[in-house]
Amino acid sequence: MYGIVNKAIQDLITEGYGVEKWEAVKERSEIDIDYFLSNVPYDDAVTYKLAVAASEELGITVGEVLIAFGEYWILNTGKQKYSALMESGGDNLRDFLINLPNFHNRIMLIYPNLTPPEFRVSNVEERSLHLHYYSKRVGLQEFVRGLLQGLGKFFGVPVTIDLIQHRDDGFTNEIYKVIW
Ligand code: HEM
Repeated sequence: MYGIVNKAIQDLITEGYGVEKWEAVKERSEIDIDYFLSNVPYDDAVTYKLAVAASEELGITVGEVLIAFGEYWILNTGKQKYSALMESGGDNLRDFLINLPNFHNRIMLIYPNLTPPEFRVSNVEERSLHLHYYSKRVGLQEFVRGLLQGLGKFFGVPVTIDLIQHRDDGFTNEIYKVIW
């Protein structure tokens, strides 16, 4: 994944727990990289190793790391560094999620070698919808949950997120029922 992702993990840990904790996570992950360049793609293994090392170092599950990271991505990386992009996604959570299938197309203009996730929406109601998540990567379901929680906070609405279909059960994708 692009360095900006790994950099955001670094910022999340540094801001939340201090620079020494980040150094400990980096050492535990055994990655041999001094600093990340945002617009350079790194092996996905780097990101996974950081998530596992952070979970061990902080004494929380990898899922909890990914949820925290998803929230951080929206409320810090998205809101602070890509505010125009976030605003272009919609004025409220419902519109933003309906527009989400096209969102990473615009990001590919900034990061041309992106391997983006794919999203589809169905069952759209006034206060809920089904979000279908397709990815070439495995193990990021809780990251999506964190992103959705972050979007709820971004738009100032409480959200409930139910994972109603999972690749572990033989399906091709996850489906989240998002209620607000
Ligand atoms: C300004 C906001 C955003 C930016 C700049 C951004 C950018 C990126 C980048 C650079 C990656 C790494 C992919 C790669 O390097 O190949 C990524 C992955 C991902 N993004 Fe976004 N993104 C944004 C918002 C969102 C939102 C709002 C969602 C969904 C709610 C989302 C869902 C994901 C997921 C799930 C992945 C993991 C890739 C996978 O599942 O295969 N992103 N994004």
